[in-house]
Amino acid sequence: MEITSWINQLSIREQAGLLTGKDSWHTASIDRMGIPSIMVSDGPTGLRKEKMPGVSIRAICYPSAAAIASSWDKSLVNKLGKTLGDECLANRVSVLLGPGINIKRSPLCGRNFEYYSEDPVLAGTMAANYINGVQSKGVGTSIKHFAANSTEKRRTIADSIIDERAMREIYLRGFEIAVKDAQPWTIMAAYNKINGKYCTQNHYLLTEILRDEWGFEGLVESDWNAVSDRVAALKAGLDLEMPSSGYYGIRMLAKAYREGKLTAEDLESSGRRVLRLVGQALPALETAKPSFSMDEHHQFAREAALGCPVLLKNGGKVLPLNRDDRIAVIGARAKEPLYQGGGSAQVNAYAVDTPFLFLSNELRNMTYAEGYDLKQEEVIDETRLNEAVENARNADKVLLFVSCRQSDTCEGADRPDMKLPACMNRLVEEVCKVNDHVAVILTTGSSVELPWADAPDAILQTYLLGEAYGGALTDILLGKVSPSGKLAESYPFSLEDTPCPENYQPDENDNMKYKESIFVGYRYYDASGTPVRYPFGYGLSYTHFDYSDIRVDKSSFNAAEEKAKVRVTFNITNTGKYDGAEIAQVYVGAGFASRVYRAPKELKAFEKVFLKAGEMKTVSVDLDRRAFEYYSDAYDRWAVEPGMYQVQIGASSADIKLQASVAVSSDDELSDEYDYRGETPNYYLGTVKNASDDEFDDILGYDLEDYIPEETETVTAANCIADAKYTSNGKNLNDKINDLFDLLPSRIPLVQSARDAVLETPIVHLTASSKGLFSEKAVDGIVHYLNGGTFGEMVKMNLSGLSQTAVDLGMPIVQKVIGAKDKLK
Ligand code: BGC
Repeated sequence: MEITSWINQLSIREQAGLLTGKDSWHTASIDRMGIPSIMVSDGPTGLRKEKMPGVSIRAICYPSAAAIASSWDKSLVNKLGKTLGDECLANRVSVLLGPGINIKRSPLCGRNFEYYSEDPVLAGTMAANYINGVQSKGVGTSIKHFAANSTEKRRTIADSIIDERAMREIYLRGFEIAVKDAQPWTIMAAYNKINGKYCTQNHYLLTEILRDEWGFEGLVESDWNAVSDRVAALKAGLDLEMPSSGYYGIRMLAKAYREGKLTAEDLESSGRRVLRLVGQALPALETAKPSFSMDEHHQFAREAALGCPVLLKNGGKVLPLNRDDRIAVIGARAKEPLYQGGGSAQVNAYAVDTPFLFLSNELRNMTYAEGYDLKQEEVIDETRLNEAVENARNADKVLLFVSCRQSDTCEGADRPDMKLPACMNRLVEEVCKVNDHVAVILTTGSSVELPWADAPDAILQTYLLGEAYGGALTDILLGKVSPSGKLAESYPFSLEDTPCPENYQPDENDNMKYKESIFVGYRYYDASGTPVRYPFGYGLSYTHFDYSDIRVDKSSFNAAEEKAKVRVTFNITNTGKYDGAEIAQVYVGAGFASRVYRAPKELKAFEKVFLKAGEMKTVSVDLDRRAFEYYSDAYDRWAVEPGMYQVQIGASSADIKLQASVAVSSDDELSDEYDYRGETPNYYLGTVKNASDDEFDDILGYDLEDYIPEETETVTAANCIADAKYTSNGKNLNDKINDLFDLLPSRIPLVQSARDAVLETPIVHLTASSKGLFSEKAVDGIVHYLNGGTFGEMVKMNLSGLSQTAVDLGMPIVQKVIGAKDKLK
């Protein structure tokens, strides 16, 4: 019997009970029916299964998403998914909470290390391959954070203001690819709002787009504690609230049902999805191998890490290394590599390979100096610096390890700037003055400013390479494997050059204005003619590749023909002395004056090709209608504008090697398409930073001024405590909380995140996240106090909610007791 059919045998309360977690990491069970709960756990870089709050099991830490995306290797990310699937099964985990595929809108996002790319095709394709890998093992995934969650600051309250085209073409496109190509078992609705509506309560997003348009068949769950209005969330299409809100969520749903605000069908269809998920998970759990070899998986972590680093610069004087050279290894990061980021993705790593150890085993003549003090990165430690410079002076070659701060790669906070710590910048400058054979090994979670980039002979960006960092890096430095990663993000010269230096963070109304629209990453740099240090898709190798002989199998393409495809074929030859891999990128650009604004070109496909020295391979890529589509706001659908398109094969977005034209015809009705050339010239010129508020209003389709609430000094439950600073009680409470956090060490990123979570979470979340300890009345009491009520009044209101608190806290215990009695009978 199908487990989903059991839904009809459950009471309304039991059905409602299925729609909130059992605890932080399990779905609810119904013992009476023998319905088990299944476990979900964080990933996606490795398994973060908690064995007790805050403590997770030892697990292999693989390269972070930013690193693995730089491999552009579909089969590698698929194998990573499969390997993680095995680890999940051995640990009885049925859903891995990942991958995270939010678009890197700005280098400042604290979670960029957890995300794949600034480009949705790259992000979506990597995600689909990862998901297919994990799910081939009978373990589910939860693609996240749906959607437009590209900022960490005030993430639970901020509102992403985005026009429909940017939404569809940039922020949703990766999710769409992953949903259509891989059907993730679950999708995680994000904390933030989009155009005024919380993602968890957004019917347009969760039902109209996700289910009705894309055909998503799985379950929608919330990000952790992202639900404030459980009933609105269910109605919008959010099936499962995570983690458990205790009895509170159940009570809210049952009450809404009694009051006729929810139908039996509303509860049933979400309940059925929870049961379906459990049913999907059970077979693999039954046959799962109870263990796997940690050492073998560690070896795979090394194999995976080999494909990721990006060689940004290579003058050929240092890399690859010669074992007999006198080599100065400089930088404390050689012994303490930054191999993973912080927050929910952080794994309790099994065995961290340090570059120092692996290099010492290989190099015959090596010295080491710390160069800086990792505990005081903003301070120049002259003694350490001088020692490093001395070592550099006496060496043939220098390997110089620099990284961003650990706190720059952490969930819950954004980076304040794109700068490396002062001690690292100074060290590179000084070392390069005394030795011109320097290779900088750069480790960051996202792009950074490199004011010294001209000085060293080589720069290798590793990203957060996972626990096998040292071994993989050493193989590359010694030339056993040629670097083959390419940038999945652009490297602007400075923060000021990025498309949204001013609009990236939420403003005083918590609005994040995505004023740059579709011009994200290379789309912006190309369109505006803004030079970058390293373009999207760029990366060098120890060998060289030649591109030749582009052919398209048809010179005209009719987008109206179902399943029509144009096949693009070209050759790549490895003309150098090393074996290596090249990542060929297929871009499409409109070669005509389009009625809508467009980026000069967009990535549509890519292939990583492994070639022995001297070898040639023919690459074929099929482009279908999607490669020529844009999202028409006027018609509310994807459309193809007829015209001559250029298909460009690039070694990077800025290095187009081959080009062919395709004449595209289309039946799409476009006579009423908006033509904004007059009203919004900056979008057509790509100079979006100059776009006026009126221009933004035009592409948004509404007047943002009208949208901003009247200024009010009244705190509501939708505000957070930080918002209440202007009332005298609010200021008092803010000060007290800040004083408390000031007692804790501020260097620990989690302290900052915890402070933000307390101060910047909507007050209404308190009831669900405390599992009902703070009743709705208590929340009202807090709001009353923040608006000038007395402490006594707040306590009184709190006490009047005691019956609600008692029900919410007591009912699970009562149910357990009843359940236990049932079992005894
Ligand atoms: C994060 C998610 C994560 C969840 C569970 C949230 O704070 O945003 O990515 O899966 O916590 O740890």
